[in-house]
Amino acid sequence: MKIEEINALLEDIDLNGQPPSEEPARQYYYLKKCRSYVEAEEKKLGRKLTACVTTFGCQMNARDSEKLSGILEQAGYVLTDSEEADFDIYNTCTVRDNADQRVYGRLGHLNSLKKKNPHMKVALCGCMMQEPGTIEKIRKSYRFVDLVFGTHNIFKFAELLASVFEQKAMIVDIWEGTDKIVEDLPVERKYPFKSGINIMFGCNNFCSYCIVPYVRGRERSRSPKDIIREIEALAADGVVEIMLLGQNVNSYGKNLEEPMSFAGLLREVEKIEGIERIRFMTSHPKDLSDELIEVMASSKKICRHLHLPLQSGSTRILQAMNRRYTKEQYLALVEKIRAAIPDIALTTDIIVGFPGETPEDVEETIDVIKKVRFDNAFTFIYSKRTGTPAAAMENQVSEEVVKEGFDKVLRTVQETAREQVKRLSGLTLEALVEEVNEQDPSLVTGRLSNNTLVHFPGDPSLIGKIVSVYLKEYKGFYFLGEMAGGVPECQKA
Ligand code: 5AD
Ligand code: SF4
Repeated sequence: MKIEEINALLEDIDLNGQPPSEEPARQYYYLKKCRSYVEAEEKKLGRKLTACVTTFGCQMNARDSEKLSGILEQAGYVLTDSEEADFDIYNTCTVRDNADQRVYGRLGHLNSLKKKNPHMKVALCGCMMQEPGTIEKIRKSYRFVDLVFGTHNIFKFAELLASVFEQKAMIVDIWEGTDKIVEDLPVERKYPFKSGINIMFGCNNFCSYCIVPYVRGRERSRSPKDIIREIEALAADGVVEIMLLGQNVNSYGKNLEEPMSFAGLLREVEKIEGIERIRFMTSHPKDLSDELIEVMASSKKICRHLHLPLQSGSTRILQAMNRRYTKEQYLALVEKIRAAIPDIALTTDIIVGFPGETPEDVEETIDVIKKVRFDNAFTFIYSKRTGTPAAAMENQVSEEVVKEGFDKVLRTVQETAREQVKRLSGLTLEALVEEVNEQDPSLVTGRLSNNTLVHFPGDPSLIGKIVSVYLKEYKGFYFLGEMAGGVPECQKA
């Protein structure tokens, strides 16, 4: 929704009346209330108020943070990257224990900032808040926190923010689950030219190591109509690349009144004018259909990149993980995908140290890495998550053995990925320019369709444009390049 539309909507709201019970009208009522609270505080302090949103974790959280930012900005806050702000919110992750520890570590720092600025408000939300035990710990050891909420009621942020202004005690609002999807709330995008779009929420897979189904709830798909409408609006606003987001996009649409497959949704998205590139995340190998491979192969817009989490190459471990495919089925799937889309880049996630994993199992994983030759792989050490079936398994692997396996897997991944990405050397491919290079401002950074980065001489006017780049020099996971033929006429501003 455009700012003018939001302003017009807020103008009609009477704050002396009762808050509406339906959504999103209720949130717009509270957003107007927040505006008046922020304005009053601005007057008192004689300056604008600032807000900082810090994101931990995955692309889903990054998108949720854009929703939080949208509310804060509409409430009148100036967004900043500095934690020395008037409102600080941590959007947390809990997929592995080190994500939790990072949040606790940084909370101490927020406490010292709050002592310096007593007007400062601190909020926590996201996956970690849904975990049993977290709230008790925050109530006991982090009493300076003003607001805590979870993943299911993020749409209520305006209402919760208003109550932070109205009461002094810590506000805690955690829901067990929800079947609600609230549409049409403000969003503040990080990039003007690309955007994530939630197509579904939650996960029904219950991989035995994973906390996500417990903290994000059951699978719920947005209606194709709402998704298409959102993407059309983004395209009209200058977005050229979109990423469709879901914990397992391949099971999109199964619980809709009129079921639609993910491949079917992609066909519809492909028709939207102005969208040049379509990405998606994440695909579970067990649900990847032939229809999806066909749609990808024949598409001009779907990027040549598939993230296909392997987790383990050992069929025995995969079974214990409840992944519902075997090593052979995974390899056969990769072969089928590569036969249909030869230029596709495959990336993956791998866990080392799952309970009961032996060095022989790790060798099976290494065998798959060598056979598939992933373009990139995120390798994780197994982290025990309380409440998951794997946490109760007796045969947890010792740290020493895990470390050995992890190093070996990482080395193999790096060697094969390097060789795999290097094969693009000397080609001229299209890149979407994303930013000025941080180290060298004479360079810009572009992303190829297959997700590889290329740095090349250029100026900020290229940001958001798709240009042809000659891949001159391979530097290990990225390229140095040169722009070939300038900016296409149709894309000139
Ligand atoms: N320990 C380690 N890695 C995990 N992942 C999910 N749960 C755990 C865990 N308990 C990894 C998986 C998943 C990625 C997002 O995080 O590889 O694909
Ligand atoms: Fe976790 Fe498995 Fe669901 Fe992915 S598919 S979010 S790993 S339970």
